[in-house]
Amino acid sequence: MASWHRLSAILPDTAVVSKDNHLVIGGCDVVDLAHEFGTPLYVFDEATLRHSCALFREEFGSRHPKTLVLYAAKAFLNRALAQIFKEEGLGLDVVSAGELAIAKSVDFPLSEVYFHGNNKSKEELELALGWGVGRIVVDNLYELSLLNEVAKKMGIAQEVLLRLAPGIDPHTHRYLATGVVDTKFGFPLSQGEEALRQAIEASHLNPVGLHIHLGSLIHNVEAYQEGVEAVLRFAAEMRDKLSFELAEFSPGGGFAIPYAIDDKAPSIADYAVAIISTLLGIAKELSLFPPKLIVEPGRAIVGRAGVALYTVGAMKEIPAVRRYVFIDGGMGDNIRPALYGSRYEAILANRVQDKGLQRVTVAGKFCESGDILIRDINLPQPMPGDVIAIPVCGAYCLPLASNYNASLKPAIVLVRKAKAHLIRRRETYEDLLAGDVLIS
Ligand code: LLP
Repeated sequence: MASWHRLSAILPDTAVVSKDNHLVIGGCDVVDLAHEFGTPLYVFDEATLRHSCALFREEFGSRHPKTLVLYAAKAFLNRALAQIFKEEGLGLDVVSAGELAIAKSVDFPLSEVYFHGNNKSKEELELALGWGVGRIVVDNLYELSLLNEVAKKMGIAQEVLLRLAPGIDPHTHRYLATGVVDTKFGFPLSQGEEALRQAIEASHLNPVGLHIHLGSLIHNVEAYQEGVEAVLRFAAEMRDKLSFELAEFSPGGGFAIPYAIDDKAPSIADYAVAIISTLLGIAKELSLFPPKLIVEPGRAIVGRAGVALYTVGAMKEIPAVRRYVFIDGGMGDNIRPALYGSRYEAILANRVQDKGLQRVTVAGKFCESGDILIRDINLPQPMPGDVIAIPVCGAYCLPLASNYNASLKPAIVLVRKAKAHLIRRRETYEDLLAGDVLIS
């Protein structure tokens, strides 16, 4: 296991080691949490969540006051988190009526919600407009005319952004690249003019801006600069041809965070400087009025705030080959290693700084050979009953969780000021059976 000093960079802000050599988050001993709530357990640290919201607001807002930070709900949203983002004054990026329903359930100001997605249904659009969603980010021509029809029927003039795919490779995992030419998302730049013309002509749409999202886990700030420049040049051309005014612009989300101790990622300030300096510089060059900036971080807000806890059960040693340590979760609650080859660190939460490290592979309990969370990591000789904590599990683990092998989705707690609040109860076998209908 890596030194505590290096691990603390990927743990929540409040993480410390107790006198008993246990991992403590938000003032709560996670070994006690594991015993009280059972495992797998996802623990979110409220202080880290709020701190990341504030960092985004400050780093972007101080350099460009006309900035709105949207939290990208797909990284993980439930009602308790939505409440926190509401209190923090963030907007939301949603991609389904389900995410919208979570926001609505806590009276999230829906005027600050942007609705994305490459295949929004008519029902979803009707619901979104009926609930007063702020912006629809239109992805293709079919949606454009469908949305206009819906807006017309409802007697609404809907403000929209058009999503462009500027053909920029952000050099990330190929599943996470979305701004390239060959992507299912958005209008290729070559079709941007036609899309904008149709949006301007549509009786019930008001195109106020342009959007791009180049991908996720983007480590190079230059990709954002290229994207900003491409969109502003396009906007200036459209101002001249179609009298289009770029009131809002979004370079999307995708900000990288470190997962493993040897990972590096730019700081939020680095991204803010790169994006805003390019935005202001190019706007000036093209005599464009600097637009309102919409940023959409998901992972960079929740990733480090979440830690997954598991209990060690069986082990398997293949002499001279590998020592497996089996945990009570795995790809059912975290498919990221299997899907993207993502790397994680682990901590033996009940013996954090023990010596005598052993090289092990942490594997899940699911019926798949690929169900391995961490291949080769040094841990203080794990034993059945030990609690393993995996940092940086706040983003895209729970939303991608499944009931594979009819497993139960984990419980979630939020820790704050030495108190743990259950914010989602563990699924039960009754939950699993509830939707099934027997033919009588
Ligand atoms: N905006 C749009 C339009 C997006 O599609 C996404 C993510 C975001 C913002 C937020 O990106 P973030 O800041 O979280 O990187 N399941 C993958 C990530 C998929 C990202 C999907 N879109 C993973 O586990 O790495």
